Amino acid sequence: MKIGLASDHGGFELKETIKNFLNEKGIEIVDYGTSNGNESVDYPDYAKKAVLGILKNEVDKAIIMCGTGIGISISANKFPGIRAALCWDSYTAKMSRLHNDANILAMGGRIIGPELAKEIVDTWLSYEFEGGRHKRRIDKIDSLAKEYWNNIK
Ligand code: RB5
Repeated sequence: MKIGLASDHGGFELKETIKNFLNEKGIEIVDYGTSNGNESVDYPDYAKKAVLGILKNEVDKAIIMCGTGIGISISANKFPGIRAALCWDSYTAKMSRLHNDANILAMGGRIIGPELAKEIVDTWLSYEFEGGRHKRRIDKIDSLAKEYWNNIK
C-alpha cells in the first residue's frame, strides 16, 4: 500500500509527524508537500496534488492536513471519485472506512495532537469498506452530482 501525504503550512508539522510514523511502520509514502511550515500556501493546491496522486494511481489512499482540516477536505471533495473524511477521533476514522469507503483522511494540524493523530491514522488504515447498502450510497455521491451538472446548461 502506498499513501500520499499533503498539507498546507497549517498542517505541515502534523504531516511530518505522520510521515515519520508511516516510515517507521514500513509503509511507502509519496510526499506532495508543502515543504515547510513558514511559507503561507493555499490548501486547494495541495488537496489537488493528493487527489491527482489517487486518480492517477500513484498512491492508493492519501492523508491531507491543513490548520483545521476543513479547507483541504472541502477542496478534495470537489473531485469525482474522491471521498475525503475529516476525522478527529478513532470512531470517525473507523466509520469513514466501513461506511463511506473514504479514500482520503483529512485532519486538522492545529486541532489534533500528534499521538491522537497517529491513533487515527492506524485505525483508518486498518478497516476495509463494508460494501452492501453502503456501496449504493457512495455510488450516488458522484452519480447525483453528474445528473445535476448534465441538466443545467
Ligand atoms: C491557513 O491559515 C488556514 O486557513 C488553513 O490551514 C485551514 O485551516 C483552512 O481550512
